[in-house]
Amino acid sequence: MNTIHIEASKPYDVIIGKDLDMGQLLESAVSPCRTVLVSDSNVPLKYRQKVVRSIRNCGFDVCTMVIPAGEESKNMETLEGLLEYMADCGLTRTDCVIALGGGVVGDLTGFAAGCYLRGIKYVQMPTTLLAAVDSSVGGKTAIDLMAGKNLAGLFYQPEVVLCDVSFLDSLPEDVFACGLAEAIKTGVLSGHELFDRFSRPDIKENIAEIISLCVRYKGDVVQRDEFETGERKLLNLGHTIGHAIEKLSGYEIAHGQAVAMGMAMMARSAEAMGDAPEGMAETIEKVLTANGLPTDCEYSAGQLAQFALNDKKRTGDEITIVIPAAIGECTLKKLPVSELKDYISAGISK
Ligand code: GLY
Repeated sequence: MNTIHIEASKPYDVIIGKDLDMGQLLESAVSPCRTVLVSDSNVPLKYRQKVVRSIRNCGFDVCTMVIPAGEESKNMETLEGLLEYMADCGLTRTDCVIALGGGVVGDLTGFAAGCYLRGIKYVQMPTTLLAAVDSSVGGKTAIDLMAGKNLAGLFYQPEVVLCDVSFLDSLPEDVFACGLAEAIKTGVLSGHELFDRFSRPDIKENIAEIISLCVRYKGDVVQRDEFETGERKLLNLGHTIGHAIEKLSGYEIAHGQAVAMGMAMMARSAEAMGDAPEGMAETIEKVLTANGLPTDCEYSAGQLAQFALNDKKRTGDEITIVIPAAIGECTLKKLPVSELKDYISAGISK
């Protein structure tokens, strides 16, 4: 078992291991109370039952809610349903909610926790690789609006993140690959120690260690810049184009795949524009492809730029993009919004 402490405005631990005793670990972070455990239709029933049994044995009074799997659930209607259910279950200020699922469940549940009664406790129990390496850590919570992804949300840290890697065993290959996209992104940001792991054949055998490396890197960034005024923007590598791809596809293209496309396209653009050295794009593309991830999309630079400009990464007439200058050395670049289309175009036409 590996414990990574995150000294955010509200400090908490991320605990990573196999076959964790969820009840006991939960109890050491949150006193037994009433709780709503939220998961989605992709989370196998046996995982939900195992967690519910374990936390009930430790004195928690548990109600459960299962939402339909997929980005379509990350909306105002599901949020309202969850908040009403929390009220029906009689949750008070000393109670908590638990997110047992992937990024959608975690983002939605965290947001509900942050606004219910002006904020109650919540706990993340990621069941996808994407949630384990990225979305369950760092306190970003949100729902999507018609205008774009994650446009309503809060920075709101959990009480604890309990990551049981045995939950990843049943993930379909494409869902696992989506998590690898975020993990590879963290490798591009943090350096060769992590990045080089994705060229090896033993990724699954070492997944707990890979998750720990990702969480340690992200935790350090969050500690320094929890509210994303600077350095944390680096974690958006591939996301400006990625979010546009997701939205343009009507969320048919999954987040991880879109991030992989966005990262590769941004690397090609940066190289073409002289912001990254020759070979950078190929290095990233090779690793993405080897891990079953796409590196291109069917949308035009004009379409991508238009949707990217609705993204919250825009400030006034500028948008901040993340440039992979080298493995372990990414930089932020402010672009006038009028130049974004040409910048993206440079990565498409090559
Ligand atoms: N997923 C990027 C972040 O948490 O900042």
